[in-house]
Amino acid sequence: MPSKPSEPDLTHTHPDTGVVASVRIGDCREKLLEFDAVRDSEVDLVFADPPFNWARDYDRHQTGDAWDDAAMSREQYLSFTEEWLNICAESLKETGSMWVNIPDDSAAEIVVHLKKIGMHMVNWCVWHYRFGQNTKGRFINSKVHALYFSKDPYRRTWNPDPILEVSDRRAIYGDPRTENKKDGMPAGMRVPMDVWYGKYWGRIQGNNKERRQKHDNQLPEVYLRRVIACSSNPGDTVLDPFLGSGTTGVVAHAMGRHFIGTEYSRANAEMAFERVVSGPVRDLESLGGDSTAIFANRRGTAATK
Ligand SMILES: C[S@@+](CC[C@H](N)C(=O)[O-])C[C@H]1O[C@@H](n2cnc3c(N)ncnc32)[C@H](O)[C@@H]1O
Repeated sequence: MPSKPSEPDLTHTHPDTGVVASVRIGDCREKLLEFDAVRDSEVDLVFADPPFNWARDYDRHQTGDAWDDAAMSREQYLSFTEEWLNICAESLKETGSMWVNIPDDSAAEIVVHLKKIGMHMVNWCVWHYRFGQNTKGRFINSKVHALYFSKDPYRRTWNPDPILEVSDRRAIYGDPRTENKKDGMPAGMRVPMDVWYGKYWGRIQGNNKERRQKHDNQLPEVYLRRVIACSSNPGDTVLDPFLGSGTTGVVAHAMGRHFIGTEYSRANAEMAFERVVSGPVRDLESLGGDSTAIFANRRGTAATK
């Protein structure tokens, strides 16, 4: 893929918190190295949702400058994947974490490569949604993998409190034992399970309030809120090599994190930057915390939030 002419930085300082969001346009394998935080291994959290090599149209703005997702052979795609994974892993602080959002066909290769370069798997989470592409020829896809790795297995930044949710034991049974927990967690709450679903967790389609026009692969704000809240602190630096519609940037900026990101398509990058400046659609404070129990309350006393 040829490199593109350099573009002006898109930089915004948050008026309340002073954190800075900075976006660069071009191939992440070149542009990420322009950030001091990347060269100096000062990044706290990487979130990457790469192109899938599925011939997806990333040129919905018809500018002709978009990434061509079908141009690479499988071998080329895997070597491209290893290149950006290496840059991202090297950008991390010792306490840093890396999350990769990836469908079935390349998840295994990414896990193997990250282990090979010394990253430690914390969780293999699954984002489950109910509106997969319909087909009669095989089982319908209803998940994407959220691979959670840390640089150091013992020193990673980990904040469970802002992501707690009501446990099934409380929501379904109203079990009084959940009111007196010995693990230091608030009554009736738990760290979410590794399969993620629930309110606002569907794919961003149709008339979803979050939907940005001309983006097919937009992630929900609630997903990035969870990742950023548990794996970074206010004032930390979050990196996304594949901005797309900018979900990571908008949520990180609103949550008081510095943000650096790259995007190949100029049109996507400019739209993502606008979104970072204008802020999230959801009230991030109110997201999360709900019960995700799939069975109804059986005692009539259970709480769901
Ligand atoms: C799956 S989308 C990301 C969607 C994003 N997470 C969101 O919520 O909108 C992948 C994006 O990566 C961009 N991209 C593909 N190859 C790239 C590269 N080498 N460097 C930077 N961006 C790239 C594509 O243009 C596309 O916008």
